[in-house]
Amino acid sequence: MKHKTAIKPTRVVRINKSKPDLDAINEAARLLRAGELVAFPTETVYGLGANGLNATAIGKIFRAKNRPPDNPLILHVGYKKDIDRYGRDISTAAKKLIRAFWPGPLTVIVMKRKKIPAIVTGGLDTVAVRMPDNKIALSLIRKAGVPVAAPSANVSGKPSPTKAAHVYNDMYGKIELILDGGKTEVGIESTIVDCSVSPPVVLRPGKISRRQIERVIGIVDIYLYNNQSVHIKPKSPGTKYRHYAPDAELVLVEGEPPAIKETIDALIRQYQVQKKRIGILGFFPGHDYTIRKNESHVNLGLHAHTVSRHLFAALRSFDEQGVDMILVEGFPSGGHAIMNRLRKAASEIIIAHS
Ligand code: TXA
Ligand code: MG
Repeated sequence: MKHKTAIKPTRVVRINKSKPDLDAINEAARLLRAGELVAFPTETVYGLGANGLNATAIGKIFRAKNRPPDNPLILHVGYKKDIDRYGRDISTAAKKLIRAFWPGPLTVIVMKRKKIPAIVTGGLDTVAVRMPDNKIALSLIRKAGVPVAAPSANVSGKPSPTKAAHVYNDMYGKIELILDGGKTEVGIESTIVDCSVSPPVVLRPGKISRRQIERVIGIVDIYLYNNQSVHIKPKSPGTKYRHYAPDAELVLVEGEPPAIKETIDALIRQYQVQKKRIGILGFFPGHDYTIRKNESHVNLGLHAHTVSRHLFAALRSFDEQGVDMILVEGFPSGGHAIMNRLRKAASEIIIAHS
């Protein structure tokens, strides 16, 4: 006999991010305390939250995302002082970073306390902690009264969600509730700094740049997150997996702008002969490409913050249009965090020469 399991619909509740509705927050906090999953906006991307002290609830995150079990989660906290509740031996560098950048798009890694279940940290003796700068997220975490373990609310390997519809597409039927607080402002995930070592190491670049960090704590190391060909044991377990990848093949073309343009022009001709449908993601003004009617060219411009904000939505929109190949221009200097995402999303990277 065939066995049918009914999918439990995921509810979406719109919520005002300047003045979050208390009933919605209370309901979401109650679900978290009851061990259910709730997606919520942060200033970076949407998170998929569970009670960070409840191993069973956290197990649901890994299943909903299809996330490898050795990839640890970030604990989201409601107050700066919470760093002492979940971490120990907090270094001066960590304290300075927290003072300078919390609430905000910065995650610090510190030694963990015993009460944090091993499933949160993938068995590591360190824990990632962040206090997000979003009223909905903060009221939810404070109301829940527990730290909220939350990865980005996408299926593992897909671009992170920057609006509720992205979460809905990836998580429908797998989670109880999505708090829809509109589009996220930063658009790429938090900068991660490992403060359990000295000097601290930037494990993932983000809006808060190396320079901003060094102004506060002095010299830091940078983990070689961009070099895909280097086979070293990843410091941040997440860095070894392919990420941010749309369904279409993504070809990233790096180099000087004129060489990028020439190479993409040539690729367009080649793919069009192969009857492949193309999407182009560019940044340079004046780079016009000859594409067909049902193909699209998105130009996000050269302002890094604007590009970050729209990057993942642009990648997802190509999939919605059903393109086969996404051709992406390399973002010029200053776009470190952007290039980090694009290189991980790429199925192929071409260095263009003129
Ligand atoms: O902006 C953000 O950070 C978003 C929002 C929702 O807060 N969250 C997010 O979480 O990007 P996630 O799970 O997608 O990425 C967390 C990254 C992973 O690459 C993971 O490997 C790394 O943090 N990480 C977590 N704990 C770690 C630890 N103890 N040591 C090293 N890396 C860690
Ligand atoms: Mg993620």
